[in-house]
Amino acid sequence: MTTPLSPFSRRAFLLTAGTAVALPLLPAVTAQAADPIRTYSLKAAPGPVRLAPEPFPETILWTFNGTSPGPEIRVRQGEKVRIVVENALPDDTSVHWHGLRIPNAMDGVAHLTQPPIPPGGRFVYEFTPPDAGTFWYHPHVHSVLQTNMGLYGPLIVEEKDPIAVDRELTWVLGDWRLGPDGLVRDNFASQRDYLRAGRFGNTVTLSGQVAGSQTFRAGERVRIRLLNACDARVFALRFHEHHPKIIALDGQPVEPFTPPGGQIVLGPAQRADIILDLDRKPGESFPIIDSYYPQAPYELVTLKYSDEKPLRSAPPNTPIKLPANPVPKPDLSNPVHLEAVLEGGDMGSLEKAMVHGIQKTKVEMMAAGKMWAINGVASFHNHMDPMFTVPRGRTAVLTFRNRTVWPHPMHIHGHSFMVLEHDGNSIQKGCTVDTVLLGGGETAKVAFVADNPGDWMLHCHILGHADSGMMTVIRVA
Ligand code: C2O
Ligand code: CU
Repeated sequence: MTTPLSPFSRRAFLLTAGTAVALPLLPAVTAQAADPIRTYSLKAAPGPVRLAPEPFPETILWTFNGTSPGPEIRVRQGEKVRIVVENALPDDTSVHWHGLRIPNAMDGVAHLTQPPIPPGGRFVYEFTPPDAGTFWYHPHVHSVLQTNMGLYGPLIVEEKDPIAVDRELTWVLGDWRLGPDGLVRDNFASQRDYLRAGRFGNTVTLSGQVAGSQTFRAGERVRIRLLNACDARVFALRFHEHHPKIIALDGQPVEPFTPPGGQIVLGPAQRADIILDLDRKPGESFPIIDSYYPQAPYELVTLKYSDEKPLRSAPPNTPIKLPANPVPKPDLSNPVHLEAVLEGGDMGSLEKAMVHGIQKTKVEMMAAGKMWAINGVASFHNHMDPMFTVPRGRTAVLTFRNRTVWPHPMHIHGHSFMVLEHDGNSIQKGCTVDTVLLGGGETAKVAFVADNPGDWMLHCHILGHADSGMMTVIRVA
């Protein structure tokens, strides 16, 4: 489990603000009473973390505040928050608040919305989250290295009127490629990973722990916030003998439903809020199985009932539908139509693409570290011209065509979008999300109101794919 951060006051912050950088932007202490802003600090630094019990050795990870996942940041919908990020890594960094519809300058994309935070530097993020829900944070520079080393954490925006549950849990799913010494293997730029489905690990963790069991009391109603923080791994979770209901996807409320086959599919970066009624008997145990890769199903964690007598005899009949978020409804009568054709990778047909404005053959692309393209363009993080421009306020309908054999969880920054059509077996159809998972060869059509001005990233959340070309920019102007 992650530990909730307790916000500290601005005064305390000023007293501990340290010496390295002057902070001219911080208003005077006297403003505090009139203008209380919840303030958090996140320090990115290497450190030892225990992923599995002894005798397994500790692993040196890159952490936020010494842990991975980083601290669970909890904020309130519609309340301003300040997050001071300090960089104690031997590398540039930045923090992106994945899924939050906040102003562009706070989006945390190095080279696009801000300069990278250099080692020893800091950056103060300030924003007011408009939507309640389950979101997360991670760096947006050297992402393959930084997230695979452990830099990410959950960001929960609490509803003003939360639904009634007995307990709330956040399960952050992580995946590590560990060597026999217990350290993260440093082959981050593996061409084989980049060309295929991304960097897979050999060790899956649940909120930073190789999972054993989680104990519940019979009769309990629990809300679990699932977050797939993996670079490449897709999960298909089944709660044996239980029937969890999905109440939100990517932080956005949905009409509560039980997914087909009871199976919750979560691609990289995706979240699902579920309601789990523990309606079996004290003392019983059930496996939670991940079987996305049919050749290698495994037990993620054991759901264990304590011996206590049931909390209640039948599941409560209080409502589980979440209040709506203020996401504008797409106007499909006169949209701007966009198309993103995804190509490249192993076993693909991509022969050439534009790299830095020059047409390159596949061999030349590879030499430049590029293996994927959107509409024939393979982009670089520090050099991205907008591929699409949408007038502010207009509805955009964007069709993704996956002309590769690999899955791609496609993410748009600064907006949540409705999945209008999906020709795959997706639980996201009709829902509003920020990342749509396209299986090999699949097509999806999504729509959103381009109401948030700025240059926004659109990319695959398999980070090696993005890094090797599968990213671009949508300009809202
Ligand atoms: Cu989760 Cu571009 O990010
Ligand atoms: Cu991809």
